[in-house]
Amino acid sequence: MDFYRILMQVTWAGVILAEMATAAVAAQLAKPNCQDRCGDVGIPYPFGTTEDCYLDESFFINCTTSSTGNFLPFSGETIVQNISIHGQLDILMYTANDCYNETGSQSSNQPYLTTADIFTISNTQNKFVAVGCDTNAFLYATRNSKSFYLGCVSSCQSISDVINGSCSGIGCCEVEIPKGLKKFSLESTSNENHTGVLSFNPCSFAFVVKRDLFNFSSYYLDSLRYNETVPMVLDWAIGNDTCKYAQTKSGYVCGGNSTCYDSDNGNGYRCRCNDGYDGNPYLHDGCQDIDECNPLRPCKDTNQICTNLAGSYSCSCREGYEEYRLTIGTICREKGKQSRTIIIALGVGIGIIVALLFSSWIYIVLKRKKFIKLKEKYFQQNGGFILERRLNNSQRGSHETVKIFTAEELEKATKRYDESRIIGRGGFGVVYKGFLSDNRIVAIKKSKIVDQKQAEQFINEVVVLSQINHKHIVKLLGCCLETQVPLLVYEFVPKGTLFQYIHQDSSISTLPWEIRLRIATETAEALWYLHSAASPPIIHRDVKSSNILLDDNFTAKVSDFGTSRLVPQDEMLLATVVQGTLGYLDPEYLQTNQLTEKSDVYSFGVVLVELLTGKNVLSSNRPEEERSLAAHFLSSLKNHRLFEILENHIVGEGNEEQIKEFVEIAMSCLEVKGEERPTMKEVAIRLDGLRKRKKHPWVNVDLHEEEAENLLDATCVASFEIAGYDSINNHVPVALGDGR
Ligand SMILES: *[C@@H]1O[C@H](CO)[C@@H](O)[C@H](O)[C@H]1NC(C)=O
Ligand SMILES: *[C@@H]1O[C@H](CO)[C@@H](O)[C@H](O)[C@H]1NC(C)=O
Ligand SMILES: *[C@@H]1O[C@H](CO)[C@@H](O)[C@H](O)[C@H]1NC(C)=O
Ligand SMILES: *[C@@H]1O[C@H](CO)[C@@H](O)[C@H](O)[C@H]1NC(C)=O
Ligand SMILES: *[C@@H]1O[C@H](CO)[C@@H](O)[C@H](O)[C@H]1NC(C)=O
Ligand SMILES: *[C@@H]1O[C@H](CO)[C@@H](O)[C@H](O)[C@H]1NC(C)=O
Ligand SMILES: *[C@@H]1O[C@H](CO)[C@@H](O)[C@H](O)[C@H]1NC(C)=O
Ligand SMILES: *[C@@H]1O[C@H](CO)[C@@H](O)[C@H](O)[C@H]1NC(C)=O
Ligand SMILES: *[C@@H]1O[C@H](CO)[C@@H](O)[C@H](O)[C@H]1NC(C)=O
Repeated sequence: MDFYRILMQVTWAGVILAEMATAAVAAQLAKPNCQDRCGDVGIPYPFGTTEDCYLDESFFINCTTSSTGNFLPFSGETIVQNISIHGQLDILMYTANDCYNETGSQSSNQPYLTTADIFTISNTQNKFVAVGCDTNAFLYATRNSKSFYLGCVSSCQSISDVINGSCSGIGCCEVEIPKGLKKFSLESTSNENHTGVLSFNPCSFAFVVKRDLFNFSSYYLDSLRYNETVPMVLDWAIGNDTCKYAQTKSGYVCGGNSTCYDSDNGNGYRCRCNDGYDGNPYLHDGCQDIDECNPLRPCKDTNQICTNLAGSYSCSCREGYEEYRLTIGTICREKGKQSRTIIIALGVGIGIIVALLFSSWIYIVLKRKKFIKLKEKYFQQNGGFILERRLNNSQRGSHETVKIFTAEELEKATKRYDESRIIGRGGFGVVYKGFLSDNRIVAIKKSKIVDQKQAEQFINEVVVLSQINHKHIVKLLGCCLETQVPLLVYEFVPKGTLFQYIHQDSSISTLPWEIRLRIATETAEALWYLHSAASPPIIHRDVKSSNILLDDNFTAKVSDFGTSRLVPQDEMLLATVVQGTLGYLDPEYLQTNQLTEKSDVYSFGVVLVELLTGKNVLSSNRPEEERSLAAHFLSSLKNHRLFEILENHIVGEGNEEQIKEFVEIAMSCLEVKGEERPTMKEVAIRLDGLRKRKKHPWVNVDLHEEEAENLLDATCVASFEIAGYDSINNHVPVALGDGR
């Protein structure tokens, strides 16, 4: 037995999709004893050539004899080319034209079509087209019993402008036909009598044309002639009513074994033969059963016999064979002959298919699981569970805690980490501006790859920082641990860093003294809070002007402490050496590696000097021993050259007494021995006192404040500096907890 052949046959039997037999049924199209052709055109009922033969006068076809002896069917005054039982009528329609010669208007024609109510211009098969280089074209029609028009304009200067195949305004324009247009006329006009284009385009044309028969080319500009006809399509339907109403009324025409459906263009309904039937559904017995078995052979097994049924067919085994049912179809098997091989082979075949389906299902399930697992792995690796536990514990004490964001939330907030959202980039990673779904604007810091061992420390800090709530400290709103690297979400501070205002652009370094003093005081208060109010105390370790952010009112916000441990320690060391921005570092701490609050005091002293002098913290323009600003400052003081290094305008703005005391505070902060430096509390109180002291009478600071702000606004808002979120570059790797 030919095993392969059998298998093929069975497979085919399994996919029997009845290829609908379009076998020519000798179905009758017209009513009995009626003329069913006129020349080449078949005339199906409801159309007819005499009163007994059509449904009503709208469907009258006047079959005339032309001068050459041919039969020509007319509907009204229009030549009919084809009548489709599916509701279309192909006709020939005149073009509108408007022609000129050198002396002016030569001739024009505005054709119209007044058809019966049953006809609607087919919106799917036609388009309205105008051809010409100086052409306005219009179609006027009736739509829902009201007048309606549409049109288009086309022009060109020379025939070389024209693009073959493109009808979009150059020498040709076209408009879609809307639904429901009846009884129309066409018009084409010209603006300038075709002056200048007469040589290649003397006429403007407008016409409705069967869309797949017209492909514009420059040929048409010259060769379209007056009173030419073009093919177009009308839709027809029976009556005014939808099927629902028509079926209840007398005069419903759909015959047996047919279905009624509503016209989708204009009113009325149409009929269609049911599946398995063919013929004219408008005649009483028009829909005839299709004999699917002849001449088609839909039964795939050669041992099957096809039997035609009403509207369908069936396949059964011929004599001497018996049916054998399988899940994928039926085969015919010789009676009495046990064919184990077939059954085994089929079993194997089915088995393979089932196995394939099952394994691909397993594959998809596993893949999805893997993705979820990966997210969970990151979450755990980044210390997510520890954080959750810590948060649950601390929730009772504090009113506001860190939120754990999902990866999707932050992805949405940053438009999938779009380039345009980047507000800063540095050695540590990237900072994005993000818009949360509750309309908050945040800064999202995406760090470099985290060392897994440091996860717990990182979590500790996130918890501590989240509990800090001070108006001069940038708030950590939350983090996301589901990504490969943890993401930190901060409040967004719009104006950038103090560093920018002091150094970046010399023309705007005119930050008024009043504001400088306020920033210093606010920063001092924030550090005091960190050292004392927060429990356990927190040492910032990286006080510097680029870590002081400014909001819209130039209010200071200290940023970025502690989280430096996101960066692997060796990289921090490297950065410290390479970058050499050690200008802020406490010399005692450098020697002893003992971190105390006083290290922050020293760094803050350097910031005070920066505010006073506007000079860079490290500068190679200064003599070797005065490279660092602190040394430069102290040496200037010693040599009574202080006023030489102060920012020029400050000398004019601040009163001398204020400046002198400010200098004193800075000096005390920069004491080499930590214990001789004041605490942040003392510094903050002194600065605050200084601010409140009466201003010198001849200084009028208030007047300049707004001016200065405007100036600052203009330059800095757009470039929020990353440095504000970057403290890692000059960190010395001492753990926060160890330093206390
Ligand atoms: C049919 O057309 C011919 C020729 O145009 C015309 O003479 C005749 O009157 C038309 N018949 C009817 C019934 O309109
Ligand atoms: C008439 O239309 C039918 C179907 O729309 C098509 O099969 C037939 O070829 C057309 N006849 C002519 C002469 O265009
Ligand atoms: C232009 O057309 C008009 C009207 O058809 C005709 O009288 C005239 O002779 C034409 N002029 C030329 C130059 O062909
Ligand atoms: C129309 O004609 C252009 C060239 O004249 C040809 O590239 C394009 O394929 C044609 N489009 C159709 C739909 O026949
Ligand atoms: C177009 O020709 C008409 C006469 O046919 C004339 O009255 C009109 O001024 C001409 N317009 C232009 C723009 O040449
Ligand atoms: C556009 O088609 C016409 C004829 O259909 C031809 O004469 C002409 O050269 C074609 N133009 C271009 C630019 O192909
Ligand atoms: C165009 O047809 C109209 C009537 O349909 C006729 O009056 C006119 O003379 C014809 N024009 C030309 C140039 O054949
Ligand atoms: C359709 O309705 C209009 C008015 O509503 C009527 O004049 C017309 O005769 C109707 N047409 C048919 C075919 O019933
Ligand atoms: C539908 O067709 C079948 C057979 O083709 C015929 O017996 C039956 O009478 C028809 N139904 C109607 C309503 O004409």
